[in-house]
Amino acid sequence: MPTVWASRYASRTKGITSSAIRDLLKVTQRPGMISFGGGLPAPELFPAQRFQEACHKVLSQNSASALQYGETEGYAPLRQFVADKIARHGIKTSPDNVLITSGSQQALDLLGKLLIDTGDRVLVEAPTYLGALQAFRVFAADFVSVSIDDYGLRTELLEKPLRSDPKFMYVLPNFQNPAGTTLSEDRRVELVALAERHGVPIIEDDPYGELRYEGDHLTPLLALDRKSLPRDSSYTSGNVIYLSTFSKTLAPGLRLGWIVAPPEVIGKLAQLKQGADLHTSTFNQFVAYEVARDGFLEEHVQLIRKVYRERRDVMLDALQQFFPPGVTWTHPQGGLFLWVTLPAGLDIQAILKSALEQNVAFVPGDSFFADNKAGRGRSRQSHMRLNFSNAAPEQIREGIRRLSEAVKTHLASMSQPSELPLEV
Ligand SMILES: Cc1ncc(COP(=O)(O)O)c(C=O)c1O
Repeated sequence: MPTVWASRYASRTKGITSSAIRDLLKVTQRPGMISFGGGLPAPELFPAQRFQEACHKVLSQNSASALQYGETEGYAPLRQFVADKIARHGIKTSPDNVLITSGSQQALDLLGKLLIDTGDRVLVEAPTYLGALQAFRVFAADFVSVSIDDYGLRTELLEKPLRSDPKFMYVLPNFQNPAGTTLSEDRRVELVALAERHGVPIIEDDPYGELRYEGDHLTPLLALDRKSLPRDSSYTSGNVIYLSTFSKTLAPGLRLGWIVAPPEVIGKLAQLKQGADLHTSTFNQFVAYEVARDGFLEEHVQLIRKVYRERRDVMLDALQQFFPPGVTWTHPQGGLFLWVTLPAGLDIQAILKSALEQNVAFVPGDSFFADNKAGRGRSRQSHMRLNFSNAAPEQIREGIRRLSEAVKTHLASMSQPSELPLEV
């Protein structure tokens, strides 16, 4: 029975549903389950010892500040650490350009609050990060989806949607979630030029950029946007706001992310953050800074890259070995995911059901499209997002084998005539 509260829910909450991924995570806790579902880092790589030492140091030397309320914008040394990271791309930033958030998911929520009025158009990739759709949907965004291919967002399709005056574009240039694709350097340049020409700014979400397993690092949109300016000019304006996080390089349980933007925008976002949580956990910020400093983070990222590269390769090999013809997948150069495209006509929810019965999980692709319909205007192909960071290599092989059985069974039943001939 609905509670008295149900009739009091604000109208903006209508149509808000729980994330398919978070719901699936509950099922994947079952013993014996091999999960390619969540975007979970490998827990055995969490630098627990370094965290332990950092906690000890913070509590023995700095407990008065670390356990106290802190500034909304974040712990000053951590903001400086982020500014220094950005400076490596040749962008002059100061701590005033940085807001520490409770995960980059909070950054998306705050940016939604700051930028989206009811019915405002927001240009997103198809497919795109489900958590961003969830965050922006609360503010009744009207999504304009533009498809991607192996080289990321198809910039040649942007002219028309940009003329419909979207408030901003939300783009994942590196090892996109869910597809694992990377925006090519040419398209990056074109995208930044289009943003300038149409006056439509960009939110660049980059949680995976450091996790590259092959090829050269590509220039962030933020750096390309500032290229025309003198190298030492401060970041006080521009068309790109940049987001990242410690979730994939240190630990997601920290809930620490950041926004890089002109100081005026940071000030406005800080006002909104005060209403949300006053500030991000002081203790976690002190600890993260102690863990990450003195080159530890860079060293640790090298280890993560090595382990995830191997897992990606095992998954690619297993897909090649077990999956039937007609199924295709992306070849991610980094990140945590690859994206499988199945022949048209398969029922992805039915495949998920069979897969879960075989104790293997994936996320169906539909959730990553703003209109919840995969393959719009094309042949209604369905997709699976597969995560390769969380399972050990031998589990990855076994999981892909089980998944391939589920796909083959459904393919076989599709090729059976759907109606039996009448007996006469
Ligand atoms: C593209 C993207 N943005 C943002 C997030 C949120 O990350 P967090 O809130 O853990 O920093 C994720 C998490 O998977 C993501 O994939």
